[in-house]
Amino acid sequence: MTSWSNDPELRVDHLTMRFGGLTAIGDLSFEAGRKQITALIGPNGAGKTTVFNCITGFYKPTEGMITLRHPDGQEFLLERMADFRITQHAKVARTFQNIRLFGGMTVLENLMVAQHNELMRASGFTVAGLLGSRHFKAREHEAVETAKYWLEKIGLTDRADDPAGDLPYGAQRRLEIARAMCTGPRLLCLDEPAAGLNPRESEELNKLLISIRDDHGMAILLIEHDMSVVMGISDHIVVLDYGRKISDGTPSFVKNDPAVIRAYLGVDDEEEAADTPKVATPLTRAEVRQDKISVPPPPVFKLPGEAEAPPARPAGAKPVATSASQAKPAQKAPAKKGAVPAKKTAAKKAAKKGGRK
Ligand SMILES: Nc1ncnc2c1ncn2[C@@H]1O[C@H](COP(=O)(O)OP(=O)(O)OP(=O)(O)O)[C@@H](O)[C@H]1O
Ligand SMILES: [Mg+2]
Repeated sequence: MTSWSNDPELRVDHLTMRFGGLTAIGDLSFEAGRKQITALIGPNGAGKTTVFNCITGFYKPTEGMITLRHPDGQEFLLERMADFRITQHAKVARTFQNIRLFGGMTVLENLMVAQHNELMRASGFTVAGLLGSRHFKAREHEAVETAKYWLEKIGLTDRADDPAGDLPYGAQRRLEIARAMCTGPRLLCLDEPAAGLNPRESEELNKLLISIRDDHGMAILLIEHDMSVVMGISDHIVVLDYGRKISDGTPSFVKNDPAVIRAYLGVDDEEEAADTPKVATPLTRAEVRQDKISVPPPPVFKLPGEAEAPPARPAGAKPVATSASQAKPAQKAPAKKGAVPAKKTAAKKAAKKGGRK
């Protein structure tokens, strides 16, 4: 039994999501281990974000079960819960493929808003609570401390009072993760957190995610195209293609899995031919001859004025020049500057392999 199926935080069973005639996810099952980073990868349109949307309650799956189990044994059947309950009670937090911060609010305010539910509960949902309750004040102080902790962790303490929309792209990505962490989640779902980051920012992101897993004991579900992030920090990888699971295992297993290589790089013509189911092919001339079936020679089409084809040469006889141009060795035409060699270019080959966007 693998470590993630031993004690999973999240279990997805036979998940199917259809949009009219399109099956975005088909019979998908996998587990995300506790205190582990599980990467969900696959080519564009494979159905990764749709999985997140089902887990977080944004979509109601057509079929299947999604179970989250907290360390204290509490179980939540996510496919039956409203999205706000999934965040509040099951404690699932997410970030989005396109950053969704409150751009006009300060960096600190973004982290305080994430703790709004807790603060409202502490106020007893009354104005009096907000104005005077000691319990509320203590909770508010805690919320500020939590925000400060995450600001420090993502290296944005100096920018606490700046509008979030003014931050550079990489910093906004980190702030979104910090905001998700301020909700106190058990499962953190990150949709392409490294998109648009430079190598140094990707490295910082890796450190942040490892620290969230190790120091906070979090289960992280990570959608990512940047393989330096995926292979560098994941404990477990699930690969999707056209909504189906094609591979599931450790990074070293997945990166050598032929099904994964095929999904990402496409198939060569020869391989494709080998993969194609064999159908009856017409016999070759040689086979026909072996079977002693006589077949008339193919007709020879001649253009007007074209010379009669030379008579067949007896076996072993040397070729004889029939014209002046044949008598002299043909001079090789000089290669045109910038001409494309006859061999397929890499780009041509990639296009032929049908690599998706
Ligand atoms: N609300 C929707 N209505 C119709 N089709 C949808 C909807 N959401 C997703 N799809 C389709 O489901 C398929 C999977 O989309 P999804 O966004 O999950 O892919 P993805 O793996 O996240 O791709 P990418 O890597 O490009 O983000 C796509 O064909 C998409 O067009
Ligand atoms: Mg997506």
